[in-house]
Amino acid sequence: MRHRVTIGRRAFAYLEATGRPVPQAQLSRTAVLIHAFPLNAEMWMPQLESVPPGWRFIAPDLAGFGDTDSRRRPAGESLHAAADSDASIDDYAGDLIDLLDHLHIDEAVIGGLSMGGYVTFAMFRLAPRYFTGLILADTRSQADSEDVRSARRKMLDVVARKGPEAVADEMLPKLLSAETHHHQPAVVSRVRDLITRNTPDAIAMALTSMMGRPDSTPLLKAIHRPTLIIVGEEDGVATVSDSESMQRQIPGSILERIPRAGHLSNLEQPAAFNAAVGSFLVRRL
Ligand code: MLT
Repeated sequence: MRHRVTIGRRAFAYLEATGRPVPQAQLSRTAVLIHAFPLNAEMWMPQLESVPPGWRFIAPDLAGFGDTDSRRRPAGESLHAAADSDASIDDYAGDLIDLLDHLHIDEAVIGGLSMGGYVTFAMFRLAPRYFTGLILADTRSQADSEDVRSARRKMLDVVARKGPEAVADEMLPKLLSAETHHHQPAVVSRVRDLITRNTPDAIAMALTSMMGRPDSTPLLKAIHRPTLIIVGEEDGVATVSDSESMQRQIPGSILERIPRAGHLSNLEQPAAFNAAVGSFLVRRL
């Protein structure tokens, strides 16, 4: 189900789905799934269609993506001026904390894929009390290297000059495994569609936010919550070795590798992804 709520002067959109009730529990427990760059909450459709019993999934659109309002900026400010401004990953985290408060959700399993993982780390840094567990999919704890920052500056230029289509051309080869490109054309066109529906402004803000995010590696040893790490075995953006390193540092965390998946493992191999999430939520929480 699609929702749109107003918090302050901005509209926040999220998708929600609930698994079948379990007799011994009065209320479903909540898991929040935060989308990757440059997609939106709809990337979680295969998970929203397969919610484990006793759980409800909430998938928000981050600011400017999908149906969530962008953060305001003065009229007439150019894309580059906005992109160079102080957009921060913490702003997305703050928005989601506001959304949890608005929905009276005191605690949840919170997780995300790639940029969604960066936002998860920011939320944990700012407000750990909301967390009963974490899901870190195809993400990494490190800040951007200088090379990655320079690639993001180039992409800021691409999005300003050529728009989201050009971003899709650049990103698609990195987001999906070779096998997905060859054998799952519907997934490829779905991801292209999700990317090209975004505004240049939302993409620029996200790039700027990711570029400035801090290193979350020092946080890992303080994550004393059940944590599931998932990675596509062919992920070239957040690699298996990034995930193994997080697993070594997050106490008691478990790592699931998804064969035949690249960076968007939840869309490329949804059955394996859902099995990993389902077993984590039902057995470990
Ligand atoms: C994502 O999937 O969210 C992005 O690839 C993250 C990134 O570019 O670091």
